[in-house]
Amino acid sequence: MSKDELFKNPQDFIAVFDFGQETAAVFDDMLERSVPFYAEIQRMMGEIAADFAVAGTRLYDLGCSTGTTLLWLDRMVAPEVAFVGVDASPEMLDRARQKLRERGFSRPHELLCLNLDDGVPVANASVVVMNLTLQFVRPLYRDRLIAGIAQGIHENGCLLLVEKVLGQSSTLNRLFIKYYYEFKKRNGYSEMEIARKREALENVLIPYRFEENRELLLRNGFKTCEEFFRWYNFCGMLAVK
Ligand SMILES: C[S@@+](CC[C@H](N)C(=O)[O-])C[C@H]1O[C@@H](n2cnc3c(N)ncnc32)[C@H](O)[C@@H]1O
Repeated sequence: MSKDELFKNPQDFIAVFDFGQETAAVFDDMLERSVPFYAEIQRMMGEIAADFAVAGTRLYDLGCSTGTTLLWLDRMVAPEVAFVGVDASPEMLDRARQKLRERGFSRPHELLCLNLDDGVPVANASVVVMNLTLQFVRPLYRDRLIAGIAQGIHENGCLLLVEKVLGQSSTLNRLFIKYYYEFKKRNGYSEMEIARKREALENVLIPYRFEENRELLLRNGFKTCEEFFRWYNFCGMLAVK
């Protein structure tokens, strides 16, 4: 796995963060070192998805990146469920294709290059996963996207939504972010790398508070929404239609 050193070099100018070639090349290392309990979140999504997935329907992973989640879910979800991975980055999807091939992924599946800002063609779904992806969709388009997802999910199907979230109060929010940066430092990122990445993500990653996400889900077709994971400013939500 190539090491994420995207923000290490002091002479590099701080670009706006994107999911192109350079990011895709180091993405798996970036996520393992930047997302607390990344593997446990994947495992939990797998066990929840296994209970909601229905034979003959589809499971969608929106913002599937390099296919890590599809591989985790494949171990746990019944084989009669077809998988659809969606991402706007062709470079991420190339890596996903390669990883699925290398790991002998044999379940019926499609990988679609689509921008979720334009809506999403979800149909005949029992499970939809969005792991750290809705936060990159322009807020203007989030209601339409969630409504489209809800429309394509069968009754009692679910959406697993994992997001960075803002805290309720600015004091707690600051503390949670401080603890998160400490986590990144423990995983080998320097203060400079952390600061540069934060700047690059400004206006690209737009987090909501948990309550805002919950309201977004409930007003667009989901009946219930529970937190299944929380670590400071990271939140996993299970919404059921
Ligand atoms: C943080 S990554 C997701 C990580 C991945 N779900 C996982 O579990 O490893 C966000 C992904 O969403 C994709 N993405 C961001 N905005 C998007 C959009 N508007 N439409 C489609 N994909 C988008 C990016 O290309 C990137 O691969």
